[in-house]
Amino acid sequence: MSSKQPHRGQGPGGLAIETAGLVKTFGENRAVDGVDLAVPAGTVYGVLGPNGAGKTTTVKMLATLLRPDGGEAHVFGHDVVREADAVRRLVSLTGQYASVDEDLTGTENLVLLARLTGHPKKAAYARAEQLLDAFGLGDAASRQVKHYSGGMRRRIDIAASILNTPDLLFLDEPTTGLDPRSRNQVWDIVRAVVAHGTTVLLTTQYLDEADQLAARIAVIDKGKVIAEGTKGELKASVGAGSVHVRLRHADQRAEAQDVLRLALDAAIQLEPDPVALTARVGEGSSNGRGAAEQASRALAELARAGITVDNFSLGQPSLDEVFLALTGHTSEPGSPDGTGPDTPQDLKEAEVSR
Ligand SMILES: Nc1ncnc2c1ncn2[C@@H]1O[C@H](COP(=O)(O)OP(=O)(O)O)[C@@H](O)[C@H]1O
Ligand SMILES: [Mg+2]
Repeated sequence: MSSKQPHRGQGPGGLAIETAGLVKTFGENRAVDGVDLAVPAGTVYGVLGPNGAGKTTTVKMLATLLRPDGGEAHVFGHDVVREADAVRRLVSLTGQYASVDEDLTGTENLVLLARLTGHPKKAAYARAEQLLDAFGLGDAASRQVKHYSGGMRRRIDIAASILNTPDLLFLDEPTTGLDPRSRNQVWDIVRAVVAHGTTVLLTTQYLDEADQLAARIAVIDKGKVIAEGTKGELKASVGAGSVHVRLRHADQRAEAQDVLRLALDAAIQLEPDPVALTARVGEGSSNGRGAAEQASRALAELARAGITVDNFSLGQPSLDEVFLALTGHTSEPGSPDGTGPDTPQDLKEAEVSR
C-alpha cells in the first residue's frame, strides 16, 4: 500500500506547501519573520536569498525538524506540527542533512537505505544500480563515499533522498560550492525528479539557478518574502527592460541619443563601444505602453531621423537586477550585507565541496 500516491499533486488548491505567517525566532533574532508561501504541486519552487536570509530555517520547519514559533504550515494539506508524521511520510530532505555514510560505498549506501525503507534485497540492489547509473555514478559505485568529489557527493545525496520517490523534495542549496559542470549535472537531476511528478522546493543563493529551474520564485531577505511570482512577473515588477542599440556609424550616436531620449522618455547610456547605446524602458508605464511597443516606436523614430541601426534588441532585466531593485543590495554571497558562511550547515557544505 502506498500512502503517498493519493497525495501526488493534490494538496488543497493543488498546493504542495502552504504557509501563513510562519515565524521562527532564535533569541532576539527573527530568523523567519512571517513567511507566506504557496507552492504549486508538481513544480520546482525557488526560494532565493542571500546567506542568513532564513532559507534553511524555513525548510527545517516544513520538514518537521524545527517547530515554528508562530504561523502555520501545511504540506499536502497536513499541518507540520499536528500531523508531523503524515508530513514526514511525504517529504525528503537533502543538501545539508544527507544520510549517506562516508565509509560505505555508493552501492552500499543506497542498498542500505532502500532496505531500511522496506525494499526487498533484490529490489534494493536494482534501485541502487538504477540511481547510480542515472546520476553518472556507475563507475564510482564500489568506491567509498569519502573518496567522492564534491559534485559526486552532492549527487549521491540527492539519489539517497529520492530512493522512494518522495512527493515533496527539499533541496537546500544543492549546488553551493560546486563547479559549473557539477552544477549542471545537479540541475539535470532536479529536472528529472520533477518530471516524475515530485514537487521540489529548492533554496539557492544563485539567481541563475532559480532562473534555470524554478517555475515560481520567492525572494527572501532577513526572514521576509520581499517578492514572489513567476520569473516574468518578478522581472516585470521591477518595471524595466533594457533596449540595446548598435549603430552603423559612430558619428550618428549623439543624434541617436537625443532621438531615443525623446522616444523612450528615459535616460540613455552610452556604452564603451562607440556605436552602442542602452536605454531602460518601463514595463506597463503610465502611458500604458509595454516595453516592446515603446522599443519599436523608438526604432521607427531612429529610421525617420535617417540613423542606420545595425542591431537592436530588447531584453528583460536579469534576476540580479531584480534583487538589487528589491533589496537595495546584490545577492552576492559575502556582499557587505551578507552574514557570510557562518551557519553550521554552511560550514558542513564547504567541507563537502572541498
Ligand atoms: N540553530 C540556530 N540557532 C541560532 N541562530 C540560528 C540557528 N539557525 C539559524 N540561525 C540564524 O537564523 C538566521 C537564518 O539562518 P538560516 O535559516 O540558516 O539562513 P539561510 O539558510 O538563508 O542562510 C541567521 O541569522 C542564522 O544565524
Ligand atoms: Mg542555509
